Amino acid sequence: MMQDRKTLRRQMRARRRALSPQQQRQSARSLCRQLSQHLWFRQARHIALYLPNDGEIDTAPLIHLCRRLGKQLYLPVLHPIRHNRLWFTPYHRHTPMRRNRYRILEPVLQGKPVRPAFALDLVLMPLVAFSADGGRMGMGGGYYDRSFAFKLQAKGLGGPRLMGLAHDFQRQTQLPLEPWDVPLDAIATERGIYRIR
Ligand SMILES: Nc1ncnc2c1ncn2[C@@H]1O[C@H](COP(=O)(O)OP(=O)(O)O)[C@@H](O)[C@H]1O
Ligand SMILES: [Mg+2]
Repeated sequence: MMQDRKTLRRQMRARRRALSPQQQRQSARSLCRQLSQHLWFRQARHIALYLPNDGEIDTAPLIHLCRRLGKQLYLPVLHPIRHNRLWFTPYHRHTPMRRNRYRILEPVLQGKPVRPAFALDLVLMPLVAFSADGGRMGMGGGYYDRSFAFKLQAKGLGGPRLMGLAHDFQRQTQLPLEPWDVPLDAIATERGIYRIR
């Protein structure tokens, strides 16, 4: 099973990276169109998202749309003390950025307010593979699982809606889920939205 996970991860990542810039642009625009019509997006004021890395579906059109609509955006930052957890810090046009230890751009933390994960309305997260029933495979660090573990305890007690963003080919008929894996509430791709609950 472990080997399966590794192979799947490698295949999906290679396929993402092989997309042309034109394909990426087209998918990103289409994803933005899909999401912009969704109630969860329209209702959300505090939205966390990510800057794409390793062929992940691009959030640039979404970021522009959110700014036009006056939504408050947040980016994940590696937690400086609590290992393998994410903090969410406001993201504006002029937010100073730096590369973290994975070479991913993140806001510089110094003196920045952070928003507790449970106080976000909508979290748009990257993923390597998903299943239409809400299974999510990430890059293998378990960062989102740790940061949103409270969703496992507090089923139906609020907290943010968790939505994965992906290229449609990242969908699997089944994914091996572990007890610590936090399921997604929906997945959005360039083809549409898979709503779980
Ligand atoms: N809530 C948690 N508490 C402690 N460890 C966790 C938690 N969630 C995930 N982990 C650890 O993180 C590691 C990676 O998780 P995994 O689900 O395989 O990665 P990913 O979700 O990035 O694909 C696992 O070995 C798991 O033990
Ligand atoms: Mg996981």
